[in-house]
Amino acid sequence: MNGREQWGTRAGFILAAIGSAVGLGNIWRFPYVAYENGGGAFFLPYLFALITAGIPLLIMEFTLGHKYRGSAPLSYARMNKKAEWIGWWQVAIAFVIATYYAVIIAWAMSYTYFAVNQKWGEDTGGFLMGDYLQRVDIVAGGAPGDLGSLVPGVFIPLVVVWIITLGVLFKGIKRGIELANRIFIPLLVVMFFLIVIRAITLEGAMTGLDAFFKPNWSEIMSPGVWVAAYGQIFFSLSIAFAIMITYSSYLSRKSDITNNAFITGFSNSSFELLAGIGVFAALGFMANASGVGVEEVASAGIGLAFVVFPEIINTFPGMNGLFGVLFFGSLVLAGLSSLISIVETFVSGVQDKFKFSRQKAVAIGGGLSALISILFATQGGLFFLDAADYFINTFGIALAGLVSVITVSWFTKKLPELQTHADGVSDFRLGSWWKICLSIVTPIVLGFMFIQNTIENLTSNYEGYSSAFLFGSGWLVAIGALVIGFLFAKAKWGKGDLTIPRK
Ligand code: ALA
Repeated sequence: MNGREQWGTRAGFILAAIGSAVGLGNIWRFPYVAYENGGGAFFLPYLFALITAGIPLLIMEFTLGHKYRGSAPLSYARMNKKAEWIGWWQVAIAFVIATYYAVIIAWAMSYTYFAVNQKWGEDTGGFLMGDYLQRVDIVAGGAPGDLGSLVPGVFIPLVVVWIITLGVLFKGIKRGIELANRIFIPLLVVMFFLIVIRAITLEGAMTGLDAFFKPNWSEIMSPGVWVAAYGQIFFSLSIAFAIMITYSSYLSRKSDITNNAFITGFSNSSFELLAGIGVFAALGFMANASGVGVEEVASAGIGLAFVVFPEIINTFPGMNGLFGVLFFGSLVLAGLSSLISIVETFVSGVQDKFKFSRQKAVAIGGGLSALISILFATQGGLFFLDAADYFINTFGIALAGLVSVITVSWFTKKLPELQTHADGVSDFRLGSWWKICLSIVTPIVLGFMFIQNTIENLTSNYEGYSSAFLFGSGWLVAIGALVIGFLFAKAKWGKGDLTIPRK
């Protein structure tokens, strides 16, 4: 018997997968990562990472979930009992991401409201750090690691974010996740198109686009740019942190895999490209308005969307409020549909292993991540968020991606079997490129990335933070996720749990 819930339709699944992929990563993360890595120079490594790692891994994860019909831990356990911990590790990574991801959506929610009359004023940077986040003041003797007090302006929207997310998850796959995505995604696409069209018709837009598309060959040679491109693809496609395995486990037996993966991957990247075009066109406009170069108007770092964009909205020739609401509103919608998928990974994981009802799994798993997320709604929250985001991406997602491809392709030698499975149900067949990318290209690049990242982080402190702070809020978080992976894999499965259901 298989009582697993299922998506109502193929379109419902695709929308949910796109909803998961398109998120803060596309609108909030991509512009600043692209910017910090040489703007246009980022484009080629990004495409290379998409084709050699992003899409092949997405197909692998869809196939794992579809073939083994379980959450990430159950699917890995059914593939090979010794691989279960990878599933739990990925679930733990998703858990960490959920705790800070929700907070960024909460900021976006506040900013949607502020946008109506540009409450952020002229000094948008000062407003973000001071009035809004009330960030611990370094100049006045504060330091990263200080918590300070709870910031009500962040806490209140955070509660709203969690009510919506857990409310959707309570309703289940078809009536909750699928329905929410059917509403959020079309709305998001319309809103976002409006902004992009407006952005590219602004004066100076072309200068911005020039900066985005012009490849800078000397930058392309820098390994850091490649590391960033792979990191961005993994985060953005929602791969290597349990999501796509979980979502595809709710597909019907006969559903297509490969074509669905291409549709999801290209939709996500098109959206990201669109976001890049919109953001850089707007930057060009602002550079033009203030008579400086594009490189001078963008500040780097995670504040880009919340500092530079408000500034751009201020400078808009008309309907400033409307475009502000559209931009931050899209951030909220894109974020929510991704957060839902991130939380679903651990809801599904504990449901499978500990036989919790959906409601109990949502209340306990979701409730716990909601509680922990309050840490990031404090005055010191931004520093913790920055460290957690960096470490969980670098030593969580990217490393879990490396371990999963090596395990599937080399240790368990499952690629041919997975390929047969995918080909058996898909609109078109996979070629040998798929196996070559997964078993050779991706492990080499990710392995190199891992060594490079380890050396870099052992020899210098990320963002110059103190070692004590980085140990507690970075290293410990990333290592903790791995340890949780091993511990949860120790619990025993029920009788027959590891048999793959026939239906
Ligand atoms: N894939 C999601 C994003 O891009 C997590 O934000």
